[in-house]
Amino acid sequence: MKVALITGITGQDGAYLAKFLLSKGYKVYGTYRRLSTPNFWRLQALGVLDKVELVSFDLIDQSSMLNILKKIKPDEIYNLAAQSFVGASFEQPVSTAEITALGLPRILDVMRILCPQAKFYQASSSEMFGKVQQIPQNEKTPFYPRSPYAAAKLYAHWVTINYREAYNLFTCSGILFNHESPLRGLEFVTRKITNAVARIKLGLQKELLLGNLDAKRDWGYAPDFVEAMWLMLQQEHPDDFVIATGETHTVREFCEVAFQEVGLHYNDYVKVDERFFRPSEVDLLVGDPAQAKQKLNWKPKTTFKELVKIMVQEDLNRWQRFQKGEHFPWDAPYDYVFGKTISPTYQLDR
Ligand code: NAP
Ligand code: GDD
Repeated sequence: MKVALITGITGQDGAYLAKFLLSKGYKVYGTYRRLSTPNFWRLQALGVLDKVELVSFDLIDQSSMLNILKKIKPDEIYNLAAQSFVGASFEQPVSTAEITALGLPRILDVMRILCPQAKFYQASSSEMFGKVQQIPQNEKTPFYPRSPYAAAKLYAHWVTINYREAYNLFTCSGILFNHESPLRGLEFVTRKITNAVARIKLGLQKELLLGNLDAKRDWGYAPDFVEAMWLMLQQEHPDDFVIATGETHTVREFCEVAFQEVGLHYNDYVKVDERFFRPSEVDLLVGDPAQAKQKLNWKPKTTFKELVKIMVQEDLNRWQRFQKGEHFPWDAPYDYVFGKTISPTYQLDR
């Protein structure tokens, strides 16, 4: 039986990847952090919490990785753990670098010494393209990061390549464009929108405050994307791949389709609030997944409209259950959730 280790198993991708690897017959270990309130809700929601082994790990604590790799000797390591919210990286640039950038060599160096035969996946990001130098973006497009998060991911991306070239390790980097799902954190724009649409429809919320409605993203469906991570590690030779749908849509279009799904018009509810603008923005992302299609035989299965529908319907379902008295902890409250708007620190002086 193959053994896989997923760092960040409590996050959106970690949960879907765990489910996917279990379906392939893997023994799955996943890392979690001690938090004041445990957050295993995604693993619970997918029905896999009791099927995975949880191991304690923090990306700033190298010895915890040393203990894990010594004990479990995985065949495959998927490094999904990160401070993954771009907005927060402007508020906490140093801890973002400490976790998202420096966390990577902490893992790779232990892997190099203890289990150099393991195959390694790094969760790189389309954010690294930032102020895009080419449309659409592919594996050869130059990078231009626009946030501390993107800069941290770029460092980790190059270290992943460096360990492949320097030590002949099987390390791959997946340059994934935005991928969403009902398990997405509420701070990200898609889930913030679908959650608000459900609440507005049910009379629980009156308006939705957003930032830049003109930003364009290439949005895919997370379960489709985790399969690409696995496919990369099944190749004979390690390589880096862009994983994307090849389509781009504005935040405004996402709102339009989401509100339409429940028979409402976004113009009646969405208000632009400067507090949600970022100090520097990534205006347009659209990926070219041709190499993934050719070498991995991967392509997205879910369309933009299907994605929005899945997310809106699931949020409606959850809030309807909530209204009937069910209190399953499917999310931690965040941001503009229960009528309270939390200003990003970099916007407090506006
Ligand atoms: P997510 O939901 O935010 O999950 C991030 C995971 O990292 C969580 O399990 C989190 O644990 C863990 N983590 C955070 N800080 C940590 C630390 N100091 N030590 C150990 N673990 C830590 O993110 P996601 O959407 O699943 O994304 C997975 C990865 O892909 C991330 O690296 C992200 O940057 C990258 N990525 C995502 C997308 C996307 O569109 N989703 C696109 C490109 C790249 P807690 O639950 O304890 O917070
Ligand atoms: N979060 C948020 N909240 N974003 C908003 C809002 C708002 O109220 N209003 C407009 N936006 C815009 C942001 O300015 C950005 O241009 C876009 O919506 C998407 O923002 P997010 O959903 O926060 O995602 P992201 O693109 O910054 O980052 C995500 O995708 C990356 C891949 O490109 C994250 O998952 C990253 O971890 C990932 O690397």
